[in-house]
Amino acid sequence: MKLRNQSSAFLLLLAYYASSSSAASTNLTSLVNLFIGTASGANGGSGGNAFPGSAVPHAMAKVGIDVSTSPRQAGYVHDNSSITGVSLTHDEGTGGNTDGGYGNFPLFPFIGTCSNSSGVDTPECEVGIAARAALRAAGTDIAVPGYFSTTFVSGIQIETTATRRAGLIRFTFPTSSNETNYLVVDLTNDLGRSFSGGSIAISPAGHVELGGTFLQSYGPSNYTVFACYDFDSAPLESGTYQSTNTSSPAIFNISLSNTADMSLEYPFTSTVSPVQAGGLVAFNATQVVARFGVSFISSAQACSNAEEEVPTPSDGSTWDWDAIVAASNSDWENVLSRVVIDPEIENSTIVELLYSSLYRSSLVPANLTDENPYWESPYPFFDAMFCSWDVFRTVHPLLSLTSPQEWSQIVNAYVDGWRHTGFIPNVVRTPNRTGYVQGGSDGMPILGEFAVKYAAYAEELGVPTDDLYQALVDTAENTVSVLFIFIFYPPVLMIFGSLRIVGRQNDAWILFDYIPTDWVDPSGKTGLPTRWASRAYEYALGDFAVRQAAIVLNKSQDDIDKYTNRSFNFVNMWDPNVTSDGFSGFAQPRFVNGTFGFTNPVTCSPVDPNPDSSCARGDDNVSGFYESSSWEMSFFAPQSVATLVELMGGNTTFVNRVNNYFSQGYYTAGNEPSFNVPAIYHYAGRPDLSALRIRDVVFTFFSTEIGGIPGNDDSGAMAALLAFHLLGLYPVQSTTQFLIGSPFVSSYTLTNDLFNTSTTFTVSNFDNTTLVAAPPSGSRVFVKSVTINGVDTGSLCTIDFKDVVGGGEVVIEVDGDADAAAARGCGPAGLPDSLGTGGFSL
Ligand SMILES: *[C@@H]1O[C@H](CO)[C@@H](O)[C@H](O)[C@H]1NC(C)=O
Ligand SMILES: *[C@@H]1O[C@H](CO)[C@@H](O)[C@H](O)[C@H]1NC(C)=O
Ligand SMILES: *[C@@H]1O[C@H](CO)[C@@H](O)[C@H](O)[C@H]1NC(C)=O
Ligand SMILES: *[C@@H]1O[C@H](CO)[C@@H](O)[C@H](O)[C@H]1NC(C)=O
Ligand SMILES: *[C@@H]1O[C@H](CO)[C@@H](O)[C@H](O)[C@H]1NC(C)=O
Ligand SMILES: *[C@@H]1O[C@H](CO)[C@@H](O)[C@H](O)[C@H]1NC(C)=O
Ligand SMILES: *[C@@H]1O[C@H](CO)[C@@H](O)[C@H](O)[C@H]1NC(C)=O
Ligand SMILES: *[C@@H]1O[C@H](CO)[C@@H](O)[C@H](O)[C@H]1NC(C)=O
Ligand SMILES: *[C@@H]1O[C@H](CO)[C@@H](O)[C@H](O)[C@H]1NC(C)=O
Ligand SMILES: *[C@@H]1O[C@H](CO)[C@@H](O)[C@H](O)[C@H]1NC(C)=O
Ligand SMILES: *[C@@H]1O[C@H](CO)[C@@H](O)[C@H](O)[C@H]1NC(C)=O
Ligand SMILES: *[C@@H]1O[C@H](CO)[C@@H](O)[C@H](O)[C@H]1NC(C)=O
Repeated sequence: MKLRNQSSAFLLLLAYYASSSSAASTNLTSLVNLFIGTASGANGGSGGNAFPGSAVPHAMAKVGIDVSTSPRQAGYVHDNSSITGVSLTHDEGTGGNTDGGYGNFPLFPFIGTCSNSSGVDTPECEVGIAARAALRAAGTDIAVPGYFSTTFVSGIQIETTATRRAGLIRFTFPTSSNETNYLVVDLTNDLGRSFSGGSIAISPAGHVELGGTFLQSYGPSNYTVFACYDFDSAPLESGTYQSTNTSSPAIFNISLSNTADMSLEYPFTSTVSPVQAGGLVAFNATQVVARFGVSFISSAQACSNAEEEVPTPSDGSTWDWDAIVAASNSDWENVLSRVVIDPEIENSTIVELLYSSLYRSSLVPANLTDENPYWESPYPFFDAMFCSWDVFRTVHPLLSLTSPQEWSQIVNAYVDGWRHTGFIPNVVRTPNRTGYVQGGSDGMPILGEFAVKYAAYAEELGVPTDDLYQALVDTAENTVSVLFIFIFYPPVLMIFGSLRIVGRQNDAWILFDYIPTDWVDPSGKTGLPTRWASRAYEYALGDFAVRQAAIVLNKSQDDIDKYTNRSFNFVNMWDPNVTSDGFSGFAQPRFVNGTFGFTNPVTCSPVDPNPDSSCARGDDNVSGFYESSSWEMSFFAPQSVATLVELMGGNTTFVNRVNNYFSQGYYTAGNEPSFNVPAIYHYAGRPDLSALRIRDVVFTFFSTEIGGIPGNDDSGAMAALLAFHLLGLYPVQSTTQFLIGSPFVSSYTLTNDLFNTSTTFTVSNFDNTTLVAAPPSGSRVFVKSVTINGVDTGSLCTIDFKDVVGGGEVVIEVDGDADAAAARGCGPAGLPDSLGTGGFSL
């Protein structure tokens, strides 16, 4: 792939244009609403599980307050539940364990009296988790990129700010109190209450080092994490507390001293330990700043991370709070400024939705470079939420446009995961601890996407493409063997079955060209025999990713042919005889002997009449579909939607079928398998219907309220989806094609700092009355023409990556004539590409 050459004079002109537009001087971080998606709600409910605390882009340290109630996947919930502390690590938008993962080593401030003789735990000495019940004063939570604040009813204020692996927490106690100000340094209570051993040491000067082992939130593994705390003033007293039995949490053994080092140590246990233990520090000062560092290597490294990122000034003054807040804010400004709109001109709701979404799209995965406890490597290490099944669809395509440098580091971490384990990592929520596989091995489309967009620049970006390709092939060909598991994992995992945690069931896939429901690998390689149809659909897309990479990386024609053929294997799950609502042909479970099983296509949709259907990844999933219905998964073959249109009976039936999917309530707005459907009308030559459907979806399911995300944010997957909808683009995964739509803003500029380009999209005849769920008749919502640097593209349905990031001016003309829009379809350039119609030349 080669980018259009820009004359340097043209680039200078663009730079001038960017710096002279009023938007360039706007502080974009002030447009972010961090509370979107923080309403309480369980998996699949209204809870977005968004993280509103303090973190830099792709931070390892995500410092934020935690609530006592559950669900609380990100620690925080925007309600009146009481606070149990302010902790150092969090996930963003995950499902899984509703108590949440991470939330390590919380501090908890209180005013009271704690005995320094033998153990008394009075209500005034709130060291145990059960005794902590700090209510927030209503309306006091403040969150902006780089800074968070809350105030308790008691008057104690907590403020936070952070760097990549460190940060500051400031406690302000009411001056009126005549009692002592305490901070608990909690060793044992992560969000999941999953402590399985660790230690804490605290010096009279208030230097605290601690570490512990906890369970990940999604998957069978544990992880070990360390922290280091220092305070800006010496404690009056410091010490430790412990109670080995939570069933009698009132009995604590508290030792306070101002002279001796104190420590506690709990050996690793394979069952979760109920111990309540930690440090206690007492202060005379009414304002106390805690500096923290986090590490996955050692507590010593946590301390050096703290000193490196939040240095102690040489003049003996305290840490520079304002400098850390400003640096974090400026990191975010840098990320957000890659998509610039003019907030003075555009609709303020759309502006808020867009920048809040761009923010959440860059929170994870977490940058653990220099924090990999498992192998030495010159490559970056990213972890703590490779929820690839969620993020391959939108987050990575968004990064591909605006963040090539960051994206290539993340891609390198995927490749390095293969280098050290033999497979591309899938779902990882904690360092080197692989979580459960959901559908396919969904790092594959991410690597394929990198290849098609950046292969020519891979060397400059430091990504070895031969390794990238080998990672794809190994993941496409090899099935995890028991031997592998025995070597690399504790034997206990063998019982669970390896496919639950890594790789694909390739033995079956290669033998049958589909995933049979009733096949046991005679070699003894274990596979989890569920989710057959979903896995086949995702395996086909994964193989398409290999095919795409093979082409751009000049691999053998044999490879290209093999993976091209396998890209079509989703068709083998297609039972033409199943009918639902008068529509025929649905993806179905299929036996070894070639006959089909039967799953009601409505099963696991939001209107499934059987509330007990299991739609998850366990042995009890008998539908064959994962977190989706056959109605929905039957639309999932982005590599060849034309094949689906044909299988479903042609353009008109296809359009009626998509309409029926929405009108009957089969659309699951809050989960990823639905992402590609609102724009799928493009493939029947009806981009006008996509434009209307996307308006409906955005205004029905998203808002700037705390419940403004229809499901878990899923590491920014929902956020990136919304950003694409608002910009009028939808990515076709592992290709350079984007479906073009009708933007929600009159103009925006994308910058790409590898290509040094700014591309301005302008909507000619933009009509803000279309910014509603049902644009009024005649309102100008339909794309009428698209020109790139003055040249009419002839395509009303697609735009290529090289043009989206190519620099210059894209003008999208819109009109309001529905009949004319239906008649012109995709325009002279025709339908979007599909493998089945010979598409995707690279
Ligand atoms: C940008 O806005 C944020 C949030 O309102 C604020 O904290 C920060 O100081 C502002 N930065 C500049 C440079 O104005
Ligand atoms: C918290 O809010 C809930 C729901 O609004 C209400 O029922 C409850 O009384 C509130 N609790 C407190 C302590 O304010
Ligand atoms: C602290 O002040 C409260 C009233 O504000 C009083 O009841 C209490 O006895 C005082 N405690 C001490 C230790 O002086
Ligand atoms: C849990 O942690 C311990 C100690 O680090 C380790 O030996 C064990 O293998 C881990 N278990 C799992 C399931 O990862
Ligand atoms: C606490 O601070 C106050 C005011 O600075 C001072 O008068 C008092 O002596 C201090 N108490 C202790 C125990 O250091
Ligand atoms: C459209 O623009 C007009 C004029 O600026 C403004 O009054 C109106 O509120 C806008 N409507 C929407 C939905 O943004
Ligand atoms: C990750 O951290 C490394 C080491 O500090 C740094 O070089 C790199 O730029 C970071 N990348 C991202 C995306 O944060
Ligand atoms: C995890 O780390 C161990 C070394 O402790 C390594 O042998 C193994 O390959 C790693 N596993 C994964 C899944 O990354
Ligand atoms: C569909 O039904 C027809 C007629 O009963 C039958 O001949 C055909 O084999 C069926 N197809 C499949 C894939 O089951
Ligand atoms: C195919 O296999 C399924 C599942 O074992 C069985 O129910 C069915 O009767 C078989 N059909 C034929 C034609 O053998
Ligand atoms: C479907 O619509 C497209 C675009 O209008 C057209 O090119 C194609 O021929 C149609 N297909 C069929 C089978 O009518
Ligand atoms: C922006 O659009 C929303 C959604 O249509 C509308 O409710 C709001 O009033 C508009 N804002 C302005 C300032 O016009």
